[in-house]
Amino acid sequence: MERDAAGRLTYDEPDYGDESGVRVTGRARTAAAASPFGGERNPDPCSLVMFGVTGDLAHRKLIPALYDLGCHGILPFGTTLVGYGRQAMDDEAFRSLMQQAIDDHYGVEVVDGDTCERILHRPRYVQGQFDDPEGFKRLAAVLDELDGRGSRGNRMFYLATPPSQFPVLVKQLGAAGLARPGATGGGRGQGDGAGPGWTRIVIEKPFGRDLETARDLDRVIGQVFDERQVYRIDHYLAKETVQNLLVLRFANVIFEPVWNRRYVDYVEITAAETLGVEHRAPYYEEAGALRDMITPHLIQLFSLVAMEPPAAFDADAVRDEKMKVLRAVRPIPAHAVDDWAVRAQYVAGRVEGKQVPGYREEERVAADSYTETYAALKLLVDNWRWEGVPFYLRTGKRMARRITEIAIHFKRPPVLLFRDAMAGGGLQPNVLVLRVQPDEGFSLTIESKVPGHAVALQPVAMDYSYGTTLNELPFSAYETVLVDAMEGDMTLFTRGDQAEEAWRIVGPVLEAWVSRPPRSIPIYEAGSWGPEAADALIARDGHTWRRPTKGDER
Ligand SMILES: NC(=O)c1ccc[n+]([C@@H]2O[C@H](COP(=O)([O-])OP(=O)(O)OC[C@H]3O[C@@H](n4cnc5c(N)ncnc54)[C@H](OP(=O)(O)O)[C@@H]3O)[C@@H](O)[C@H]2O)c1
Repeated sequence: MERDAAGRLTYDEPDYGDESGVRVTGRARTAAAASPFGGERNPDPCSLVMFGVTGDLAHRKLIPALYDLGCHGILPFGTTLVGYGRQAMDDEAFRSLMQQAIDDHYGVEVVDGDTCERILHRPRYVQGQFDDPEGFKRLAAVLDELDGRGSRGNRMFYLATPPSQFPVLVKQLGAAGLARPGATGGGRGQGDGAGPGWTRIVIEKPFGRDLETARDLDRVIGQVFDERQVYRIDHYLAKETVQNLLVLRFANVIFEPVWNRRYVDYVEITAAETLGVEHRAPYYEEAGALRDMITPHLIQLFSLVAMEPPAAFDADAVRDEKMKVLRAVRPIPAHAVDDWAVRAQYVAGRVEGKQVPGYREEERVAADSYTETYAALKLLVDNWRWEGVPFYLRTGKRMARRITEIAIHFKRPPVLLFRDAMAGGGLQPNVLVLRVQPDEGFSLTIESKVPGHAVALQPVAMDYSYGTTLNELPFSAYETVLVDAMEGDMTLFTRGDQAEEAWRIVGPVLEAWVSRPPRSIPIYEAGSWGPEAADALIARDGHTWRRPTKGDER
């Protein structure tokens, strides 16, 4: 860095003034962005190469996340956004496209021009097909140029494309010498800083369509990249509450002693959406709820709830424990899949007061589609901690309410002292609910005495919400994903063996559903809590699904 004649700093980049300055755009946040597991965020600068930069994910999530990081002074100086795609565009048009994404997300009136200037300063766009070696040569030349301009030789390739494009992109990166095999992906405590800079690849979900395709993809990636360079995204794991689950379990003494089969009756993990397939019908028709949500997200959430305490808070230790519990999941018997899993599809109904069409009436959905828009799964874990405790996973589109939560249902007390005092419903067992979205936080319901002379009981909720209790808005999952990858923190990313194990768990269900297309798929009304068959699945064990309403934490 040098000073020009006027005394300004020059770095082949403009002088942005005080690098620690934080500009907030109408969102409550502390200036010092802390790492979830201690310490301030301190990502490395890099050339951030995005494939799929003209797509929905980039427009709605990735570019807005970069902007927000810029607002909070977290995006390191020297980071340059590089787009690679088949559409004809020059750097300036690319910049406008990115600016549009920020404006669309935050509203043009609150967008901070200085921050945009900083993030979108001299972005680069390389036009090329994904299978065109010449395009990758051009990309390599741009990256070489940027290496000398503040990125310190660090390169992050973000694959935000349809999964069908992952293998070709990985191969082309390898063929162009851009994977730099031998240079470690680095990461906290993993030897970062060696060599000419790090190279990392971030891969969007879904990771394969089944066990075989996940293994194939891993094989292709393994031929080009070292596993330490590979960041498989599960953006659910990057949500604040999910990270808080680890803190809740392992930084407090009161939960871990009851976190086992002696005290836990059953666990529900729910990801319910009110939206339909929107504009993603072609993708969803191929995927369905099991592949889209259960395998990449809910099984990973399950592993965090059920794993043993890791020996340390580093990526290897956490991921080893997750892997152990995934391996302990009892195989679903192929001959009795219906006792363990339910699929269904929504028909027309009312969601949040609005009439919506059924799945088969959605644009670009086959009129005779059997794709499931709802899936529920029961898992049992054959280990000492969880023997006999069912874990129920469910996800659906066009459900009654948008909510993602983990509910730990505890057992009833062994002696019912207050039999006479239990008006109506009887003693309600304690439930710990971790709300992943929206309104991230958690609540614990406990029985309490109703004030008065008589002894009457009523459940009350001890509630904690990020928004109100700490007056903080959590970072979006994609902000966390980007910063973690730039820092080389792999803790919240899925390792290859975990992705494969998730496919092993759902394998019998997938096979049964593919090989036995139903004569008629079970249905549920849009705006409901799912099909009767799912109620029956959990009722067979004497339990019921939660049906949370707004403001109802139970
Ligand atoms: N959208 C979401 O909310 C969301 C959420 C979670 C995960 N994901 C994952 O993120 C990834 C991207 O999803 P998306 O919704 O953004 O998809 P999308 O809107 O269909 O965008 C796909 C992007 O890939 C490019 N592309 C596709 N095929 C190509 C080809 N043969 N050659 C060159 N470019 C090609 C497209 O370029 P053109 O503009 O030239 O077509 C576009 O930029 C997927 O893996 C998806 O599963 C998405």
